[in-house]
Amino acid sequence: MTWNELEETCNNCQRCSLGKTRTKTVFGTGNRESVLMFVGEAPGENEDLTGIPFVGRAGQLFDKYLKAVDIPREDVYICNMLKCRPPKNRDPEESEQDVCIEYLREQVRLIRPKMIVCLGRISAMRLIHPDYKITKEHGRWVKKGNFEMTAVYHPSLLLRGNVTYKEQMLEDMKAVAEKYRFYKNS
Ligand code: URA
Repeated sequence: MTWNELEETCNNCQRCSLGKTRTKTVFGTGNRESVLMFVGEAPGENEDLTGIPFVGRAGQLFDKYLKAVDIPREDVYICNMLKCRPPKNRDPEESEQDVCIEYLREQVRLIRPKMIVCLGRISAMRLIHPDYKITKEHGRWVKKGNFEMTAVYHPSLLLRGNVTYKEQMLEDMKAVAEKYRFYKNS
């Protein structure tokens, strides 16, 4: 599948009930040739309205971390596991993840990143391992096929203000940036 075919299929998708309640699909944005992909959970209200991932309050906080470690947002690819917003931002259901993950798989196939960073527990549980404990395992790297994966705290968790989590996030993001520069320059 080409990017255009994939994006069009996704935009017209009615494979789960979220197709009926979404305003816009949130396919993903950024550099389709980046070595680094960030994968969040699912669009929230602002993302559903704009069609762009991580533009609400959590997204703005995430932007600050990207800036702090000198990664221009447009240099990386950012998307979510689910392309449509679950009503009232409830957790994505297993069956919704099962169908939507096919789009993510295609995105990974097309981008061929060297690193995938899960934003939060939900995507880490689906993409790294099912009983992922974010407080214990965040920032640990695992090799999967042709890329390395890790997870960091979801920015919406950090909005609640836990200082320790914020410090850990900065350290994890520094490590992400270091690896990013290594792959980008090699
Ligand atoms: N939370 C997510 O997981 N993804 C977004 O795009 C916005 C908020």
